Amino acid sequence: MTIVGNPFRPAAGSHGLLGRGPGRAVQPLRPDERIPVYRPYLGPEVERAAADALAVGWLGMGRLSRQFEEAVGERLGLVDRHVVSTNSCTEALHIAGRLIGLGPGDEVIAPSFTYVAGHQAITRTGAEVVFCDVEPANLSIDPARVEELITPRTKAILAVDYLGLPCRLDEILDIAGRYGLRVLEDAAHAFGSESRGRPVGSYGDLTCFSFGPVKMITTLEGGAVVTPHEQDVQVLHELRHLGVDSDTDARYRNQRNWEFDVVRQGYRCHLGSIPAAIGLAQLEMIDEFIDNRRLYCRFYDDAFRDLDDVQLFDTDWADVAPYIYVVRVTDPGRRHDLMRHLSDLGVATGVHFLGAHGFTFYADARRGDLSVTERVIEQVVTLPLHPYMDEGTLRRVVDGVRTFFGRDRLGQEATPR
Ligand SMILES: Cc1ncc(COP(=O)(O)O)c(C=O)c1O
Repeated sequence: MTIVGNPFRPAAGSHGLLGRGPGRAVQPLRPDERIPVYRPYLGPEVERAAADALAVGWLGMGRLSRQFEEAVGERLGLVDRHVVSTNSCTEALHIAGRLIGLGPGDEVIAPSFTYVAGHQAITRTGAEVVFCDVEPANLSIDPARVEELITPRTKAILAVDYLGLPCRLDEILDIAGRYGLRVLEDAAHAFGSESRGRPVGSYGDLTCFSFGPVKMITTLEGGAVVTPHEQDVQVLHELRHLGVDSDTDARYRNQRNWEFDVVRQGYRCHLGSIPAAIGLAQLEMIDEFIDNRRLYCRFYDDAFRDLDDVQLFDTDWADVAPYIYVVRVTDPGRRHDLMRHLSDLGVATGVHFLGAHGFTFYADARRGDLSVTERVIEQVVTLPLHPYMDEGTLRRVVDGVRTFFGRDRLGQEATPR
């Protein structure tokens, strides 16, 4: 087997790391070390940024929070769009839902096949989720199934960019436009991905990102809402900070405003200065993280392409900022054994996702046909994907999968070059 399309070599002094960033303080995993699903990069650049921010002594939302929002906007190439940072994507989705007035009596059409954060953000407002199927190609909400679930109670659609693959947002926006609905885009997995040359976040209705512990970039915990409407910004600021009307500008100057009014029910989900500083340091490295993850996804794809036993996503990763690497086990009855086999070899795996329609809390939620969801929740396995990986680690994962299915290990000719 030959690995093709690999533009990177292990660089001198990189300890066998593949891709960019040989100067980073990344220790490759030892051959006997367990390979985790995630391994966020928290090197000296990140420590320095946190230490510098601590030295300033302004810990709460402040100048750095603002700088982080600006840097996010710049990274996404936003024009006439606004970034409001939060302490998680869950809260970003929650305040975006409040912004559009979600509440009791409303319905939001959402994929069952996503992390429960999205569903919880919706039901916290008192609105109900209506479960919709996903499409097989990208495991994102199927625009063809959305329309049949719309009722007079429908207020919004939740669209998710699964593992970094952009969903078919244009079709969803079109449906939403025809029925007067809003679209909450859960782009927790897709910071840095593009669709037809447009960065995710630059063309949606309300887009929410995650900067959680294991995401493409991390602020330890964090998130953001992107809105195209300037008038949303003030409301989001109030929602994010206890309904207070007028202290954001002062805080963005590391000051406090002691005269303010409280104008609505708000929450407390702003992004503090230390997380923002960490996010700024991470943003400096994001191109490297994305390039490397793409390289590793292609390495996996090339190594699995001859297996009938697993289904891969039909992408060359060129526009995708891959958050996780997922295969679908063709025979769902073998997924558990594959995961155990890999675990015995020291390779951790994950399952994204379980399907929220099976959760007790959502047992009564209205739902459409979920046949694709029912199938894929039994098939998906998440393999390790890190911002920096060495060849030995990738080969251990690949060989674990290949040997489980009775195939040969990866040949020497597969060495990326
Ligand atoms: C699809 C999806 N949406 C939302 C979230 C929640 O993000 P956060 O942890 O920042 O709240 C996650 C977390 O992994 C996720 O996978």
